[in-house]
Amino acid sequence: MSTYTEDRRKVTTHRLTEMKQRGEKIAMLTAYDYSMARLIDEAGMDVILVGDSASNVMAGNMTTLPITLDQMIYHAKSVIKGVKRALVVCDLPFGSYQGNSKEALASAIRIMKESHAEAVKMEGGSEIRESIERVLCAGIPVMGHLGLTPQSINKFGTYAVRAKEEAEAQKLIEDAKMLEQIGCFALVLEKIPAALATKVAQEISIPVIGIGAGGGVDGQVLVMHDMLGINKGFSPRFLRRYADLSTIINDAVAHYIDDVKTRDFPNDKEQY
Ligand code: KIV
Repeated sequence: MSTYTEDRRKVTTHRLTEMKQRGEKIAMLTAYDYSMARLIDEAGMDVILVGDSASNVMAGNMTTLPITLDQMIYHAKSVIKGVKRALVVCDLPFGSYQGNSKEALASAIRIMKESHAEAVKMEGGSEIRESIERVLCAGIPVMGHLGLTPQSINKFGTYAVRAKEEAEAQKLIEDAKMLEQIGCFALVLEKIPAALATKVAQEISIPVIGIGAGGGVDGQVLVMHDMLGINKGFSPRFLRRYADLSTIINDAVAHYIDDVKTRDFPNDKEQY
């Protein structure tokens, strides 16, 4: 179905830059396990993010804060085994890089060594510059993340749109330029006004991937459970649902229960 699945070459950070340069949009989606990562990769996804949203959609937590580095490594290890083409980026979880740059480097090295992910994502701007620089110095590609940064939810107090006010918008632009300048290969902008996101994408040379940031950026990312309709309790304006898997799964499971109860399953051909 996709027109982009013909190109089976491995996606690298360098190829993402080339995609931005030639105006080809970048598709990114989260995955947390082997089977879904394999399907998503086979469909032609450019970037698979092992997001710390695993804390919400896999572990049932209210926020991304509780997930640990060990748990992120477990998810990333499973994803990597299912992926042949997409670039696999793994989130550094809350508490694994904010303390100091040495801690950030140790966490990023664990992700790269133990999971074989190909890059890490870190939330924040000037506050964590030193940590990002230290990780970059070790040859580990870093994807930045500005705007709504869910690991700071307790500071924000809400998941509302960020950077609507001039001062916050200005800081975001400065942070984006700083992340480009120190060597991040890409940047996620979450839930900010579309005009601001477009301006950032035009002013920096690295690919800008948006979530709730409008269509003027270089690519889009969504959380897999949200776009497949597995998690129907979450419906922000920016979310487009491509499937209603919760209904499909619910119907299939109810059908199975019914077949067991009515002795329809297994039939003569479904046994030895
Ligand atoms: O953890 C995650 O899924 C993310 C995306 C929302 C960008 O960071």
